[in-house]
Amino acid sequence: MIRCLSLTAPKDARKLRDLQEYRKYIDAVEVRLDLCEFPERSFVQSVCSHAPEMVILSYRRPEDSSLLQKLPDAEASRIPEAKRLEVLTELLDTGVSHVDIEVGIDAPDLLRRAKQLNVKIIRSLHSFEGLPEQLLQLVREIASAGEIPKIAVYPRNSAEALQLLYVADALKDIKEKIVIGMGPYGFFGRVAPWLFGSMLTFTSVGEQLAAPGHIDPAQLEDVYHVSSNNDSTLLFGIIGNPVLHSRSPQLHNRWFREQGMNAVYLPFQVDDIDAFFELAEKVGIRGFSVTVPHKQEVISRLHSVSEEVRRIGSCNTVVRTERGWHGSNTDFEGFLRPLQERGEMRNMSTALVIGAGGAARTVVFALVQSGVKVYIVNRTAEKARLLAQEAGAQWVGLDAVSSIPESYKLVVQSTSVGMSPDTDADPLPQYRFRGDEMVYDIIYTPERSRFLQRAERAGCRTISGKGMLEAQAELQFELFRNSYNLLLG
Ligand code: ATR
Repeated sequence: MIRCLSLTAPKDARKLRDLQEYRKYIDAVEVRLDLCEFPERSFVQSVCSHAPEMVILSYRRPEDSSLLQKLPDAEASRIPEAKRLEVLTELLDTGVSHVDIEVGIDAPDLLRRAKQLNVKIIRSLHSFEGLPEQLLQLVREIASAGEIPKIAVYPRNSAEALQLLYVADALKDIKEKIVIGMGPYGFFGRVAPWLFGSMLTFTSVGEQLAAPGHIDPAQLEDVYHVSSNNDSTLLFGIIGNPVLHSRSPQLHNRWFREQGMNAVYLPFQVDDIDAFFELAEKVGIRGFSVTVPHKQEVISRLHSVSEEVRRIGSCNTVVRTERGWHGSNTDFEGFLRPLQERGEMRNMSTALVIGAGGAARTVVFALVQSGVKVYIVNRTAEKARLLAQEAGAQWVGLDAVSSIPESYKLVVQSTSVGMSPDTDADPLPQYRFRGDEMVYDIIYTPERSRFLQRAERAGCRTISGKGMLEAQAELQFELFRNSYNLLLG
């Protein structure tokens, strides 16, 4: 797999610094003349002298680049088409190995010069609105003309990402091609380009990313270990919407590496569970984590589920078994583990749970099953009442939260209030901590929420959501590892 750094920094000197800094992570460089201060021969020559063997020269038009479209003076800086081709042609002898020109551009002089200099042609198509018509035929025509097809498509949903996989599959016989899924729905292909049969993945650095979904080459290596991945790497992942902010890839990929497993864990943004299951079958995903908003909906697609999933109605882990997909819930035990490790579950009598949403369900069921008397308080009282009824708990109104006869030994904050970027929010400002209760906030960004800080100031012992995140991920990893061993053992 070729990792190509697209040089996008606003200043040319900075582009050269980026190249030097990231040199060890990359196998190719793209010089975007449209992003150069001065598209000069000496700059391209400098890049070529510091770059790996493969240097791609391109000169994007605004219609082919979302980055250019975002720049304030994009249209004003558009140069006449004849000039664009002339500059590209003139710079072909600087040492570049490839030149990228767009589909439909007639450039006989450029093609002639490239042939003389042995510079390969990449023929590119960019589509920001899903898959263009006649894509298969177009790619075949490019390849049969001896050029390298590059298709960069922005899937607008899971179904279009799946469709792009089918297109790539139908083009399997064309070995030299570049297929990119831009944006969050195509992100998995940036990390695992072989899934799209792509010889290359583009990366960029800094605040000016070349295209939607671009990832920094260091992250590509440090988090996903791409240089050791190949088409026999087993696939795991996480589904959610949104999902690219998730920290789970950092944890699971680190553990895969530590255990010497040839596996990678990818984020899949999913807005259509059925399209994802089809994709999972198609590319052979072994197991995946499930996050908001799919924890309930995923259940009806599974062949079997654990006792916790049946009881709570929430599933965060799915693995492939011989008979079909099996769902478990590691949030349940993951939530309890930090409490157990601190010895807090001994003599735990009464708890207050703030929230009555999906996350609260797991917390309430886990505590009730551990024999704790649970009170639920929620902005919408009716939801607190319903959850309490279902789980065998109590509920209290917002204004009665401090007037129950017992005192809470544990307070669990399970809403999203206080999560970044709304870090000033407090889900229950009227609650006065006594100072001897344990306070557990399941939020992990920030690590110490405002609510938790307030509890600390009152002298409470506290646990942040990081503990739960790691515990549920460790339990999940065990399930993934069993699945991996079953297949390879
Ligand atoms: P999750 O799966 O993360 O738990 P959810 O099922 O949407 O997400 O539940 C969100 C929880 O946070 C609910 O308890 C919600 O209260 P309501 O039931 O009244 O909606 C709570 N919540 C979200 N925003 C809130 C806010 N601004 N103030 C108080 N509670 C809030």
